Amino acid sequence: MEERHKEQAKSEKVEHKKRKAERRRHRAESKQHEATFAAEQEQRKQYEEAEEDVRHRPTQSSSQQQHQQQQQQQRRPEERQRQDSREGGNNSNSNHSRNENESSSSSSSSSSSSSSSSSSRSGSIFGMLKSGLQNAASVIRSTVRREVTIEFDTRTVVLDAEPFAEGGFCTVYLARDVNNCEEQYALKWMVAQEKSHLKDFMWEIDVHRRLAGHPHIMGLCDHLVRPSEKIDSRIAKDVLLLYPLSRGGSLFDGIERGVTRSSRWPFPEEVAVRLFLEACEGVRYMHKKGLAHRDIKPHNILLFKDVDGIERALVMDLGSTGALKVELKDRRAAMELQDECNSKCSPPYRAPELHDPNPGCLIDGRVDVFSLGATLYALAYGYNPFEHPKRGFEKLALLNGNVEFPEDGRNQYGEKYSKGFQHLIAAMLRTDPAKRVKLSKVIKGAKALLG
Ligand SMILES: Nc1ncnc2c1ncn2[C@@H]1O[C@H](COP(=O)(O)OP(=O)(O)O)[C@@H](O)[C@H]1O
Ligand SMILES: [Mg+2]
Repeated sequence: MEERHKEQAKSEKVEHKKRKAERRRHRAESKQHEATFAAEQEQRKQYEEAEEDVRHRPTQSSSQQQHQQQQQQQRRPEERQRQDSREGGNNSNSNHSRNENESSSSSSSSSSSSSSSSSSRSGSIFGMLKSGLQNAASVIRSTVRREVTIEFDTRTVVLDAEPFAEGGFCTVYLARDVNNCEEQYALKWMVAQEKSHLKDFMWEIDVHRRLAGHPHIMGLCDHLVRPSEKIDSRIAKDVLLLYPLSRGGSLFDGIERGVTRSSRWPFPEEVAVRLFLEACEGVRYMHKKGLAHRDIKPHNILLFKDVDGIERALVMDLGSTGALKVELKDRRAAMELQDECNSKCSPPYRAPELHDPNPGCLIDGRVDVFSLGATLYALAYGYNPFEHPKRGFEKLALLNGNVEFPEDGRNQYGEKYSKGFQHLIAAMLRTDPAKRVKLSKVIKGAKALLG
């Protein structure tokens, strides 16, 4: 009898504890909901106040605009890093240079593309609350922003309030033709704050003109240079480039989709080699015209569907392009090239001779062969060959030519790549440009893989 009482008391105690824990959890959850609601209310209030403020002050003083600009730039490094996990090249508009640390974090393709997506992926309640808040904030923000219309020579477009992509030197907006909103473009908005920036941006336009009409090089639909609307300064210029819109995004976007989805890897050998060959054709044309791209990477190759619905690769982002052959006469010339590459070319895809150019040597189109090799590797395995998932970009591995392939040829998603495929990549990633395979041979080799 006493035994039974004891048992009963014990189970009651356990039940009591359970109920207490349950109540505690419930209270914590309600508090979180309240906090979220209050934060949302606060944010809404702030935006409403801002909107009111804007309404009552139709013209903004230049110092206020500058302040906003500064605030935006302060906010940007974190955002840029996020974007750069998609973009890979990581620069700032303000200093106009690609930073190696940022770049290494960026191109770790397995990292998430946005904080909201990473938090929702984590599945934690905090993640969900955070992403809910961010969504609410972005909806409110977009209603406050005004619509921007831009008149080019041949058409007028209206821009989405928020950019859909950010590069090292630009923000990219979806633009719609005002007369036909079905016609959509990507508008690359760059701000030249000094003469040297403007010279670089004008060079990009000039390169487009020289390479116009090739099926595997991005064509420019229109462009406009005007006093800047984003920066209040007498010399700042907006340089606006209008392109056909790629709905498939870049090869890097494709890799990201592959990394984050459980479905089949998007670039089995045949697909990877076909797209790679198309990019090679674009690069070969550039070389024929006396130019080297110098920043080939998955982020700078866009996918476009052709009339048969097959995705085709186009080489884009021609801002880093330079002369095909450069003879480095002395130390000074070598340093200048190094500086230029530090500011324009993404380190994990950059050929060793551009990392450490030696006086007296000749730089040629094999810089692009190296970058194409690293790109093909990333298409197969989902990451750059010189980037450790945790440690990021490893410059020494790149300079020493340490490239590892999975022994069984399979990537971590189960997709198998042939020995011939691996040999082709290894030949493209040789450290010494004299021993590196030439582009014409690469194209032959890739065609042979397709059979
Ligand atoms: N025509 C386009 N269609 C779709 N996305 C584009 C287009 N042009 C650029 N983008 C997106 O914008 C990003 C930045 O553009 P990019 O020209 O590479 O600028 P940056 O020189 O700053 O790297 C690209 O990586 C891509 O994601
Ligand atoms: Mg780019």
